Amino acid sequence: MTQVVAPEKLDDPHPPTYRLASLEAIQSTLDLVASLKHKVFVVKLGGSTLEYQQAVLQDCIWLHELGVNVVVVHGGGPSITAWLDKLHIPTSFEQGLRVTDAQTLEVVRMVLCGQINQDLVTQASEMGGNVVGLCGTDNKMVQAHIANERLGLVGEIDRVDVSLLTHLIDLGYLPVIAPLGLGPDGTCLNINADLVAARLAGALNAERLIFLSDVNGIRSADGTHLSELNKAEVSSLIEDGTIYGGMIPKIMACLNALTNVARVHIANGSTPHVLLYELEDHPHVGTTITR
Ligand SMILES: Nc1ncnc2c1ncn2[C@@H]1O[C@H](COP(=O)(O)OP(=O)(O)OP(=O)(O)O)[C@@H](O)[C@H]1O
Ligand SMILES: [Mg+2]
Repeated sequence: MTQVVAPEKLDDPHPPTYRLASLEAIQSTLDLVASLKHKVFVVKLGGSTLEYQQAVLQDCIWLHELGVNVVVVHGGGPSITAWLDKLHIPTSFEQGLRVTDAQTLEVVRMVLCGQINQDLVTQASEMGGNVVGLCGTDNKMVQAHIANERLGLVGEIDRVDVSLLTHLIDLGYLPVIAPLGLGPDGTCLNINADLVAARLAGALNAERLIFLSDVNGIRSADGTHLSELNKAEVSSLIEDGTIYGGMIPKIMACLNALTNVARVHIANGSTPHVLLYELEDHPHVGTTITR
């Protein structure tokens, strides 16, 4: 905590050490902020964390105002499931990916683009952010093909085109992206938001990729928090079932992103100011994935 020094004491020839410490803290914060200017941060907002979206958006807007090029990709799992339930459309998952038929895809598109993306954009605009809502099909940003017939209209990403994003970033906008992709025949495909975030982060050479979910990072088999994990450890945790469901595409996305992204992290979107803790690489917040 920075101490306030009374003005009459500012020219004290023997300043108390607490004042020196606080000046050092201010200097290191200023250095940190300067070092982040024009760096890209991709933040993936899990569908499960959207109830905390106001606080997360506030941090995104602050970072953006400090000169960080923030890009948000959002999921929508729980809302999509709730709407499918309301419409009595059964839903299922394989390896953390939603099996998507034509009727399910209609609901996925309506919820992701019509509801969640719009909610994030209106809320962030209200908070003063220069925000633009996009979907992966805009300007063929995310191109994909159906990889596994059993999953239906689920896309595996072939290519991402970030030219629209870089233009918007250069113009000072903060893009908020819904995870849909364009198939080879012009059809829309459902794509896991973690995989979209990772590919976009890679193409943008992001400084950081941060996945905000509803857990404090990865848990081991006995439930303890793992603050750092490498590729070999991830493989064995998937093999023994410790990592399952929606964490599988997330952790695979982390590993894929590490080729081009300096730092990849999974943290809890409900932790107040989690993105600001991220700046300081706080060891107790989330899990860092390393090569
Ligand atoms: N080893 C693990 N440690 C922590 N969480 C795990 C682990 N294995 C599986 N999970 C599950 O992964 C879930 C997070 O993935 P999930 O896909 O549900 O959310 P999300 O990706 O944040 O949201 P969305 O899919 O809507 O974008 C956690 O809620 C937890 O149940
Ligand atoms: Mg998920």
